[in-house]
Amino acid sequence: MESAPATTPAWIVDPSGPLRGDVAVRGSKNGITKHLVASMLGRTPSTISNSPDVGDVDITISMLEALGCIVHKDEDRITVDPQPISSSRVPLRFSGMNRIPILMVGPLLHCVGEAFVPLVGGDDIGSRPIDFHVQALEKMGAEIIITDEGLEAKAGQLRGAHIELPYPSVGATETVLMTAVLAKGRTVLDGAATEPEVIELALFLQRMGARIEMRPNRRFIIDGVDELNGAAHRLKGDRIEAFSYLVAGLITGGEVRVHGCTQERLVTAISTLHGMGARFEITDSSVSAWADKLSPAAVETDTHPGFMTDWQSPMVALFTQCDGISVMYETVYENRFTYVPALNKMGAEIEMYNTALGSIDSRFVGSTTPCSVVVRGGSPLKGTEVDVPDIRGGFAYVLAAAAAEGTSTITGTHHLDRGYNQPIENFLELGLNIKRADVATPAEA
Ligand code: EPU
Repeated sequence: MESAPATTPAWIVDPSGPLRGDVAVRGSKNGITKHLVASMLGRTPSTISNSPDVGDVDITISMLEALGCIVHKDEDRITVDPQPISSSRVPLRFSGMNRIPILMVGPLLHCVGEAFVPLVGGDDIGSRPIDFHVQALEKMGAEIIITDEGLEAKAGQLRGAHIELPYPSVGATETVLMTAVLAKGRTVLDGAATEPEVIELALFLQRMGARIEMRPNRRFIIDGVDELNGAAHRLKGDRIEAFSYLVAGLITGGEVRVHGCTQERLVTAISTLHGMGARFEITDSSVSAWADKLSPAAVETDTHPGFMTDWQSPMVALFTQCDGISVMYETVYENRFTYVPALNKMGAEIEMYNTALGSIDSRFVGSTTPCSVVVRGGSPLKGTEVDVPDIRGGFAYVLAAAAAEGTSTITGTHHLDRGYNQPIENFLELGLNIKRADVATPAEA
C-alpha cells in the first residue's frame, strides 16, 4: 500500500475581524463545464467567456482534448473547435473526477455513434446515481451497457421521445437537452430542472441553432435539427460563490459587496437572509449585505427557485453565529452534512437527525444518513485543524474559520480549488489573513 505524502497543501486562516469590501465573481463552475460540452455539438467553434479559473474547467478541457477537440484558453475566454472529434472514449484516467463525462454521452453519440465514459465522480454527497440519464438516452434509441469501469453506449440515428424525469435533475435535464437537439423528431421533456444554469445552457443551444421551447410546469419541447453551429456566450455569475461571500461578510459582522452575479440569481438567498434580519443594497451590478443582528431560521433546500442545496453549508455556518435555534433540512442530496462534525469540533453546537424537519416529503425514506440539522447558535468558534470533505462543506469551514478565535488549518483544499475562482485573493481583498502552506499530512487523510 502506498504511504500518504509527508506533507499536504492547506489553507491557514487567522481571523482578522469583520470582512469588508468588494468581490467580483465569474461565471459558474456548473455553467461553464456544460457549455464546453455543448460546444461538441457545433459544426464550427464556440467561444465561452467569463470562465472561472477553477480545476473543473481544466479537467473538462483535458477530456475534450482527449476526444480530439482543439481548445484554446485565453484568460477567461475558451474556444472549442469540435470538428476534429475522433475518439469516442473519455479516458479512464478521468474516472471519479467530476460529473461531466455522463453529459458527453449524447454529444458523442451524435458525433461518432458510440461513447465510453468512465464512472462519474464529483463530491461524496450521496449515491449520485445516473439512472435518469441512462433511461432518457435509452428512450432516444441508445443501447447502453454499464461495466465496472464506466458506461458504454452506441446508437444509430437518435430519435425524439417523451421523457418524464422522476425528479427534476439538473444533469439529466442537460443530458436530454444536449441529446434531443440533434435527434430526429420531437422530444417532450417533463419534470425538467429549471435552475438558472440549465436555462442558460438551453439558451446557448438555441443560439447554436437548436429548436427549444420552454413551457410552464417544467416542460421543454425540443425539435431536433440536422446540424448546429458554434456560438459565443458570456457566462452569467456564480450564485453559489456570490452567496458564500455575502455570508462571509455577515458571519464576521462585516459587509461584502458582490459584483458579477445579478439579483435574480440570488432572489431566494436574499429573501431568506432578509427574513433573518440582513439588510441589502442591490444595484444592477452588485448585491451587498450587512446586519446589526441576525435571527435564527428554519430553511429547507429545494430545486429552483427554492433555497439551493449548494447554499446549505454556508447557511449552516452562519446559523452557528445567530443566537437561538435554527433548522436546516436537506432535500436534494441524501448525504450533505458530512462537514458538520468538523464545525462541532470548532465549537458549533449542531445535532444531526434522519428525520425530515421541514414540509417537503423526504425522497430518502429509510436512509440512515442525516437529512436535517438543528443548530444552537451563538456559541463561540475556535480555530482548529479540519479536513475538507466536499467542495461546499469545505467553504463552510473557511467561513467558520474567519469567524473563529485562533488559527485554523484546512486540508483537503483540492476540493475548493476545483470550484472556487481565486478564493485566496478574494479573501485577502476582504481583509482575511489567509495563506496557502504545506503542512504535515493529517493522520486520517
Ligand atoms: N439523481 C438520480 N438519478 C440521476 C440523476 C440524479 O437519482 O440519474 C438524483 C441525485 O442523486 C440527487 C438529485 O437527483 O438526489 C438531484 O441531482 P442532480 O442531477 O440535479 O444533480 P447534478 O446534476 O449531479 C448539479 C450540480 C450540483 C448541484 C445540483 C443541484 C453540476 C456539475 N453539479 O449536480 O453542484 O448541487 O446540480 O442543483 O452541475 C456543487 O457544485 O457543489 C454541486 C454538487
